Amino acid sequence: MHPVTRTSDRLLLGELTLDDVDAVHAIYGSPEATRYLSFEPRTREQVGHIVARAMVSATTTPRTEYSLAVRERDGNRLVGFARLALEGQEAGTIGFALRPDRWGLGYGTELVKSLLGFGFDSLRLHRMWAARAPENAASRAVLLRAGMVEEGTIRHHAYVRGAWRDSVVHSRLATD
Ligand SMILES: CC(C)(COP(=O)(O)OP(=O)(O)OC[C@H]1O[C@@H](n2cnc3c(N)ncnc32)[C@H](O)[C@@H]1OP(=O)(O)O)[C@@H](O)C(=O)NCCC(=O)NCCS
Repeated sequence: MHPVTRTSDRLLLGELTLDDVDAVHAIYGSPEATRYLSFEPRTREQVGHIVARAMVSATTTPRTEYSLAVRERDGNRLVGFARLALEGQEAGTIGFALRPDRWGLGYGTELVKSLLGFGFDSLRLHRMWAARAPENAASRAVLLRAGMVEEGTIRHHAYVRGAWRDSVVHSRLATD
């Protein structure tokens, strides 16, 4: 499916363009925003490659990866990066990050609900899941409020900053 456009109250999920590299770097280059993610802050050059790859995967058939811009409907400014990747049988995994100056406004919850709506309604998925760092309390709050139940722990899921890290898995089924 390309191009993706999905609106919620205040946010718009849409395709990335090369003009978005600086705005994505404000998130993926930020130590604060990447603190609980499975990678260290990215350089602008690395973010350029990430956006370029996202644009290629967006037009690949069949499309299995949806790396999307999260924009404020008011002003069209990019404030987040979201990813939904298809894997397994009618299943998708999601990831998301917002610019730190937009945290605490309810955008995270709105974004996850929007991603779930996209996966279940538009892609007809059966299962969607997300993995978070055990200490990531904001992500936990958002995932639970969006109806993604805690499933369990993947032990030593990611090797980050010189150490193995567990992940807590959340999921929601189309039938929930
Ligand atoms: C996770 C993230 C998307 C949340 O976005 P957000 O817009 O602030 O989320 P919301 O405003 O919808 O809700 C955040 C909730 O977390 C709570 N929260 C935030 N920090 C917290 C903390 N340190 N401890 C406990 N709860 C916390 C807030 O109180 C709020 O809950 P409430 O509304 O019940 O009070 C955002 O913090 C982010 O981009 N983090 C960096 C990337 C990341 O960790 N992504 C998740 C990967 S799994």
